[in-house]
Amino acid sequence: MLRPPALRPQLFKHLKMTSQIDQSQADVALENFPASPESLSRQDIEARNGTPESISKGSDFGSYARVNRGSGLSDSGIESHNLTAPINRVRIYRRATKGAIINSIADLGCGLGFTSAALAEVFQTTEVTGYEISRDACEFAARNWPQLKFVAEPVIPDSSLPEKYDLVLAQEFYPFTRTTSQLIHEQYAKTLAASLQPQGIALITLTEGSPESILSNLGALGPLLKEAGFKMVVFSLPFDRVYSLLPIYFLAKVASNILGFLLRKPRYMAIKITRIN
Ligand SMILES: C[S@@+](CC[C@H](N)C(=O)[O-])C[C@H]1O[C@@H](n2cnc3c(N)ncnc32)[C@H](O)[C@@H]1O
Repeated sequence: MLRPPALRPQLFKHLKMTSQIDQSQADVALENFPASPESLSRQDIEARNGTPESISKGSDFGSYARVNRGSGLSDSGIESHNLTAPINRVRIYRRATKGAIINSIADLGCGLGFTSAALAEVFQTTEVTGYEISRDACEFAARNWPQLKFVAEPVIPDSSLPEKYDLVLAQEFYPFTRTTSQLIHEQYAKTLAASLQPQGIALITLTEGSPESILSNLGALGPLLKEAGFKMVVFSLPFDRVYSLLPIYFLAKVASNILGFLLRKPRYMAIKITRIN
């Protein structure tokens, strides 16, 4: 049986931006984080070692294993874990980063790669790298979009990616959507910031309905990022469907806010991080 990669020794390799974070507190936060890289790596191993009968559709890793073994998308349960038709969402990202020159993109927690492929199409660059713990998801993505790069490695807190990017996207990325720990949010926000080119943009996107998310810690994170030389702007995005029917950003946003209010549908949020010039 394969063992999870020993992640801990790598955790504090690049402490450039976080000398004030107490290492033992950070360790405890990570140990209590149910979607930590170690815990997800174990799920990845279980799913890969599983038999067709034992692989559950209820988890991302079960769905990835099913899809990678040839099961159809609709039979894999993937739609509750990945955005499988992301083109309108990515058009919204293009609009939200208007004016920026984007030649290289990192897609963190890219899952099966649908959003990575849409990013390449809309931003018209093949320099898209997806980072994803699930090896099944990465194998599927690499087979389907061989012109893009997929790295089956965890993104580690308090670190930086192996390269710097013009755009780093974290769409429904668990470190921001599955914990209320300010320390985890801070460490990962700084990982994104440390992986940017000088004019780069980090975009964290998530639904406002996530019960445990970075949205609960925004007040504390702004000043912490500022100390590290970065600024943070938070805004809602139009709903994908509204933007596809009404592709005028401002109007789509107003219409989405009204619809969201009337239908009590949570808004889709973006946190944009850039360097203070
Ligand atoms: C909810 S899925 C979202 C997938 C994709 N971004 C989307 O929106 O369709 C979250 C993904 O993040 C991956 N993930 C979570 N933590 C990670 C980490 N530290 N490094 C790499 N991938 C991670 C999970 O394995 C999972 O595939």
